[in-house]
Amino acid sequence: MNNQNDNMDLDRYAVVGNPIAHSKSPMIHQAFAKNTRQDLVYERVLAPLDGFVETVQALRIQGFKGVNVTVPFKLEAFQLANQLTERAHDAGAVNTLIFNDEGVIGDNTDGTGIVRDIEQNLCIPLAGKRILLIGAGGAAEGVLHPLLACSPALLVITNRTLDKAISMVKKVEEQGEYRYISVNAYAFDDLRGQAFDVVINATSTGLTDSSLPLPATIFSPQALAYDMMYGRETPFMAFARSHGANVADGLGMLVEQAAEAFYVWRGVRPETQDVMQQIRNLSQ
Ligand code: ATR
Repeated sequence: MNNQNDNMDLDRYAVVGNPIAHSKSPMIHQAFAKNTRQDLVYERVLAPLDGFVETVQALRIQGFKGVNVTVPFKLEAFQLANQLTERAHDAGAVNTLIFNDEGVIGDNTDGTGIVRDIEQNLCIPLAGKRILLIGAGGAAEGVLHPLLACSPALLVITNRTLDKAISMVKKVEEQGEYRYISVNAYAFDDLRGQAFDVVINATSTGLTDSSLPLPATIFSPQALAYDMMYGRETPFMAFARSHGANVADGLGMLVEQAAEAFYVWRGVRPETQDVMQQIRNLSQ
């Protein structure tokens, strides 16, 4: 018998997005499954731009146990879930769906992914640090609460459209959970003279190779400049490097968010170092 029939008995998972051809999630999850001796199949599924809900329902009917959700469907996944974890609720977006008898649970592992990458892989504890978060779109919203939960001394959000950064700060203030942390919104220009220990680029500028008009003074000595994009040197990374920052891309976040999703589904936490190295080797 061929593998396809053998696979019919295995638990099935998928990543759903559009586009999806270049997703590294199947490779990552298959490596996790092999390393933890979990029998499962993980596929790539292209959903039509106007057909996310139908695609997910079809996968559920076929017996899939869960899916990862990527661009541009994280908000639709949030709406589709009939139960949300606290971190998905805080993020306002869902990147992991769990299918069970009661329905569809929506979770978000992106924030856990970036925090683990910075604190455990890059060995930079965020407690007491001064953090600059650049961007106020979905990617920034998704990591804001997990970053605050690390108790930085200060978190500044900056964005081309300042109003969006201000609304994010207002929401945090209204929730009142992080009253002891100074959370502010500034326009790019108003960052002049301020320095940060950790600067995170959560804008989509890496996709279009656009530069951000940031003052060079934002990097304190030994600062970490973290771009949530992976796969190539973005203008932000080049800028940070030229001003003496230690630079990281988002590959570690990608692998760590996947590891967290794997843990949510399987109850087993996979090792991530080898998988990260494998992907880095492939892209060299
Ligand atoms: P994502 O889900 O990737 O966060 P998004 O919600 O569309 O996508 O948000 C994109 C982010 O990148 C926003 O913060 C956006 O700034 P605006 O809110 O001003 O649009 C930012 N961004 C995109 N292109 C940019 C550019 N050329 N310069 C500065 N910021 C940019």
